[in-house]
This record gives sequence, structure tokens and C-alpha cells, in this order.
Amino acid sequence: MSATTRVPRGVVAGNWKMHMGPDETRAFLAALSPRQGPGRPQVLLFPPAVSLAAAVAAAPSWVGLGVQNIHWEDKGAFTGEISAPLARAAGATHALIGHSERRHVFGEKDAEVARKSAAALRHGLIPVVCVGETLAERRAGQANPVILRQLDAALEGLTGSGVGFLIAYEPVWAIGTGETATPQDAADAQGVLRGRLRERIGGDADRVSILYGGSVKPDNAAELMAAPNVDGVLVGGASLEALSFTRIVDAAPDR
Ligand code: PGA
Repeated sequence: MSATTRVPRGVVAGNWKMHMGPDETRAFLAALSPRQGPGRPQVLLFPPAVSLAAAVAAAPSWVGLGVQNIHWEDKGAFTGEISAPLARAAGATHALIGHSERRHVFGEKDAEVARKSAAALRHGLIPVVCVGETLAERRAGQANPVILRQLDAALEGLTGSGVGFLIAYEPVWAIGTGETATPQDAADAQGVLRGRLRERIGGDADRVSILYGGSVKPDNAAELMAAPNVDGVLVGGASLEALSFTRIVDAAPDR
């Protein structure tokens, strides 16, 4: 590897969705015990916002914490929403943006993803921008155009930030379905995303961690994370249990 080659950081992230209250959060963190040391992946957790304070109080220093969504405005009359400054003040360092459930259940659009990405960066939150095609889009041969459109839109809000963001490729057909993309599927899509990042941000693209998400389990995590351009994983269901999440973190290769 040449001195100029930059390796993206390995990352294993858990998206708890609408699970895990404060007590469950504390119990999870007390039981989380992956191998630590040089070359081990960064561990990120995205608890529900109501459990963030418990997570901040209980998390060891090697666990980064984020929120699952933010609003693009800094403050105002937006009942039920959380702004980037509020998330930061509560101890979040990261924010999931454009998760497929936000896009497909709550109708979030590319333009909103861009505005949320920009809001996160404005306030020092690291965005983890999710992209991914539906099964119908994949069957119609539209997978790459869809994920590139989503990435391009997000980059409108990310441009100029250098490497201060992560991308998660999460094919919608693989989320919560038990249907995992093969390591080759993930490598193909993530190679396409890396190529577009290189066009847009040059050599910094090689430092952006691109995660795979969709039915990642302890048994398939190692082979997914061994695939080219898969710098880590974003885990839903299998991140709810400390032992299973510990096994996924331990399945990450040293970098
Ligand atoms: P899953 O969810 O691991 O339960 O498929 C992944 C995600 O939605 O981030």
C-alpha cells in the first residue's frame, strides 16, 4: 500500500429504531464487550432519542452515539422533531440521515436528506447518509441510477465537508427481511458509490467509510465486511442484543 493510499475507518453501527428504553440501554452497554485495540472498528449506536441521555451516561469512551433523524431547521415550532443543535447538546456525535424507513414510511425526499445533511455538518454532527433501492427498482434494472441519484442529492448538503460523513448502502429489500445482499452485491453497489464519490470529492472519497446494511447478523458479518468497498456494517435487528452485536463487532477485520 502506498503512503498516499488512505484506508477508510472500519465502522460497526447499531440502529435501534423504535426499541430500547433507558433501562434496556444501560443493560446493553453494561454487557457490550467487543475486542478493543488498534485497528478495531469504530462502534456507533443510534438509540431512540429518549434513551440518548442514558446511553451517554453509560457508554464507554469507545462507543460513539447518534440520533436516528434530525430536522433541517435549527429550532422552531416543529412539534416532535429534534434539531442538530439539540442532538449535539444531548451528547450525539452522529446522525442517521435518509434511512429507508424515513424515506419510505415517512415520505422523506432527497431534497430533505440534503438539507438534513447540511444541518448536521453545520452543527458538528457527522451524518451517516443512507441510500438504497427497493426491490421493484432493482428488478427494473434501476438500482444504480437510484442510489446515485440519492447520493448526488445528499452531496448537495455534504459538499465541502471533506470526509466528515459516512454513507450506508442499505438495499430496501434486505432490511428486516432476513434477505441479505451477497458480499458481491454489496461490493458492486458500494463500488459504484465510491466511484461517484471520487468524481465529486476526489481523493477524499477514499477516506469515506461506506457501510452495508440489511439483515446483517453475526453469521454473515465477516464475509460482508471482507468485501471490497464494504468498510463496515449498519445493523438493525441484530444490534438489539449485546451478545449478538458484540459478535458482529468482533467479526470486523483489523484495519
Ligand atoms: P436490519 O436493519 O439489520 O434489521 O435489516 C438494518 C437497518 O435498517 O439499518
